[in-house]
Amino acid sequence: MPKHLLALQDFTKEELLGLIDRAIVLKKESAEGKRHQQLAGKTVSLIFEKPSTRTRVSFESAMYGLGGQVIFLSSKDTQLARSEPLKDMARVMARYVDGMVVRTFGQNVVDELSAYSDVSVINALTDLHHPCQVLSDVMTVIEKKGSIEDLHIAWVGDGNNVANSWIQAAAVLGFKLTLACPEGYDPDAEILFASDKIAEKPIVVTRDPAEAVAGADAVNTDVWASMGQEDEAEGRIEIFRPYQVNGELMSKAPADAIVMHCLPAHREEEITEEVLESKQSVVFDQAENKMHIHKAILEQMLG
Ligand code: CP
Ligand code: NVA
Repeated sequence: MPKHLLALQDFTKEELLGLIDRAIVLKKESAEGKRHQQLAGKTVSLIFEKPSTRTRVSFESAMYGLGGQVIFLSSKDTQLARSEPLKDMARVMARYVDGMVVRTFGQNVVDELSAYSDVSVINALTDLHHPCQVLSDVMTVIEKKGSIEDLHIAWVGDGNNVANSWIQAAAVLGFKLTLACPEGYDPDAEILFASDKIAEKPIVVTRDPAEAVAGADAVNTDVWASMGQEDEAEGRIEIFRPYQVNGELMSKAPADAIVMHCLPAHREEEITEEVLESKQSVVFDQAENKMHIHKAILEQMLG
């Protein structure tokens, strides 16, 4: 298993499925009231340069749930905002804590921290990837559908960080992935090229949302403007409107397709209230599973 969790591409299928299997066991044991203490005496620091509700709280609660401790640092609390070199920050932090969970802008930040850190660095979202999110999403698909290898997953909307991590998950795990994105908002070209080269099934990008959801077992979407793109939000609304996940689009997907969104959602933009609150929606299971998958990740990386 790699020392750091920076992107899903760095892992094998067995490693990713192993983390998910372990998260399912930890979830079951927690529901049965079992108390876990495997990270007693360990401390993780959460270094977050962007806002977060789910990722922060689920990592904190996962760490406490395994008997460990958390130190939360927002960008205003660290010297990073005042340009302390990442290579210094990494070596200092590694002397205080047993792992770092980092949410930031550039993927280069987590890459550089990991290059200089003796303790594990876990990517809690960058502009390029959201690997822990997609692990919890794949876990949710497996819980709902039994497995993922033979399924067809659709992505409708922006080719953003979450989409990039779905692409890497498809390449490593071998499921079919179709993404419908407006022109100019495709997923990262390098990630797409590298993933498609090793994927068992082609990873398809189309301009047609109906084509993406036809035959899909899960229909995924996310906000049209991610954190850091607030200035573009208004301009994106017209461009993305044909990509809204609404009742009409869902009528073109199989009736038992699940609807997924990593949250936070903008109702009546990328997804309608009707679809988000429908029986097909599994968004709150995805949110819950973040905590269970984070336990499995922390146990593996810090244990
Ligand atoms: N899905 C997700 O990462 O949510 P937060 O931004 O609230 O952490
Ligand atoms: N793509 C979104 C995900 C938020 C969890 C963003 O980066 O803002």
